[in-house]
Amino acid sequence: MKIKVGELQFRPFITKEKIVERVAALGEQISKDYEGKRPLFLGVLNGSFIFAADLFRTITTDAEISFIKLASYKGTTSTGNVITAIGLEENLHDRHIILVEDIIDTGKTLSSFMPDLLSRGPASVKIATFLTKPEALKYDIKADYCAFEIENKFVVGYGLDYDGYGRNIPELYILDTQ
Ligand code: IMP
Ligand code: MG
Repeated sequence: MKIKVGELQFRPFITKEKIVERVAALGEQISKDYEGKRPLFLGVLNGSFIFAADLFRTITTDAEISFIKLASYKGTTSTGNVITAIGLEENLHDRHIILVEDIIDTGKTLSSFMPDLLSRGPASVKIATFLTKPEALKYDIKADYCAFEIENKFVVGYGLDYDGYGRNIPELYILDTQ
C-alpha cells in the first residue's frame, strides 16, 4: 500500500522480513570477524538508531556501543568541510571501531569525518551501513558491511526520514514517481 510522508508519496520497497534476514546475516559475519576483539560500535545519529539497535542485538561476541552526532565546523583543510563528533566520550585509542550508518549516499559525511576519527588512533575502522546507493557515490568511502545496495532514489522508513518524518515506519519505502 502506498503511503504519504509530508507531501510526497512512497511505495513499499523492502519488507520487514528481508530486513531482519539481512541484518542477521551482517551480525553473524561481524561477530565472526570481531571475535575476541571487543569492537566499539559507533552509531551515527539520527538515522542509524534503528539499524544500530537491531544489528547490535545480533552480535554474539563481546562488544560496546555508543552514539555520536556529526556536525560541520569551519576547518582549515583544503576541502573546507570538516566534520567532528558530538557526544564522543570514549577513548578510541587502539579500539576496533565499527561506524554504523543508515545510508551512504555521496559518502561526503563519512569522508569528512574520517580525518578526525583516524586522528584518535583507533586500531581499525570499518563501516556498517544499512543502505548504499552505488550510483550516487562521489567520495572515497567504502562500506565493509552493507545490508542492501539500492538504486539512486529517495527512501524512507527504518530510521530514514523525509524532512524529519517517516523514521518510525518499520519497513523501507521508496519515492513513488508515477
Ligand atoms: P552523504 O553524506 O551524501 O553520504 O549523505 C548521507 C546522509 O544523507 C544520510 O545519513 C541521510 O541522512 C541522508 N540521505 C541520503 N539519501 C537518503 C534517502 O534516500 N533517504 C533519507 N535520507 C537520505
Ligand atoms: Mg544520516
